[in-house]
Amino acid sequence: MISEKISSEQAISLEEKYGAHNYHPLPVVLSRGEGVYVWDVDGKQYYDFLSAYSAVNQGHCHPKIIKALTNQAQTLTLTSRAFYNDILGKYEEYVTQYFGFDKVLPMNSGAEAVETAIKLCRKYAYEKKGIAENKAEIIVCKNNFHGRTTTIISFSNDEDARKNFGPYTAGFIKIEYDNLEALETALKSSHTIAGFLVEPIQGEAGVYVPSEGYLAKAKALCEKYDVLFIADEVQTGIARTGKLLAVDYENVTPDILILGKALSGGVYPVSAVLANNTIMNVIKPGQHGSTFGGNPLAATVAIAALEVIKEEDLARNAAQLGNLFRSEIQKLVDSNSLIKQVRGKGLLNAIIINDSEDSSTAWDICLKLRDNGLLAKPTHGNIIRFAPPLVMNEEQLLDCVSIIKKTFKEF
Ligand SMILES: Cc1ncc(COP(=O)(O)O)c(C=O)c1O
Repeated sequence: MISEKISSEQAISLEEKYGAHNYHPLPVVLSRGEGVYVWDVDGKQYYDFLSAYSAVNQGHCHPKIIKALTNQAQTLTLTSRAFYNDILGKYEEYVTQYFGFDKVLPMNSGAEAVETAIKLCRKYAYEKKGIAENKAEIIVCKNNFHGRTTTIISFSNDEDARKNFGPYTAGFIKIEYDNLEALETALKSSHTIAGFLVEPIQGEAGVYVPSEGYLAKAKALCEKYDVLFIADEVQTGIARTGKLLAVDYENVTPDILILGKALSGGVYPVSAVLANNTIMNVIKPGQHGSTFGGNPLAATVAIAALEVIKEEDLARNAAQLGNLFRSEIQKLVDSNSLIKQVRGKGLLNAIIINDSEDSSTAWDICLKLRDNGLLAKPTHGNIIRFAPPLVMNEEQLLDCVSIIKKTFKEF
């Protein structure tokens, strides 16, 4: 049944009928991917300019990662953590040395890794800092996106993500993003602050790049007030912004680092929380876990995915192509009143459409881009995120730029 060919209309109507309506996809039905390209069921080729929200940094079906996946899939897939397996320890050594931390706690989705970081931060606050039981608070930023669990949406200010999912989890203080004064005021306000959870660039909010120096100064403030700096690099990490981590631009080492998405090159859900021993050692057997977290398939895939990042120098490629992309799109901004701004870092970019947030202009532009062979998706109404796989080359990028320019001219 699964190998039967179906039309776009059939695929869409099946999802409509049998799937919960928790997404609003662009109407295109994909059936194959390779590198920077995806193909729909009719064989039409597109540039993927979303990369599954930055999970497919290494390109679709990267041969090295797929080989690692298929080899391991035929050997051992899941033991649970009730037993040891012969891959997890190797992965733990590899990933901790790769990012420079003592220890890793392996999970699956990004949201689970964020939950893990929150639990770790709270436990550390109670057991090492002496914060009174159930009093720990974590500072978060307005317009954050950290995932979809009940605790995480408790500190979201996106009404769609929150409304009618309460009661909400307490213990979070929301401040303005990119505002150091607000951070210091919050840090000073009480002795029960355990951590500051922040995205180095707010991706889902529309690729908001904070002022230069913000992350380094925020980290220094956290040190001053003895509060853990928790970087959610689920979207920005793993070469996306032109460095291995977005915090690397300011030489910041987070106390807790959260990774997901591209940790597997988009072939399997793999996430991780990294920290040094003083923090990670507060978690003892039985206190946290996941049946699938750290399974041999995930561990094998993650090693291959991280090797590809280094072997193909994808951070440098993202930095170079990102500069080229923004300078080319800036020309469009200067000449076309439909676009207000282009912003971003590396290959995590967005353009702001000159229309209201509730207009359909960005959506309509994405439909036209699709017709012209490039797939992108609006975020928050009038913003279109552009985040292609990092294995793109200059010629392909310039081809994409001309598709975007052509689309705007036609619009
Ligand atoms: C910064 C950030 N954190 C966490 C998540 C949640 O990841 P997942 O969808 O894998 O749960 C996302 C997803 O977009 C994200 O961008």
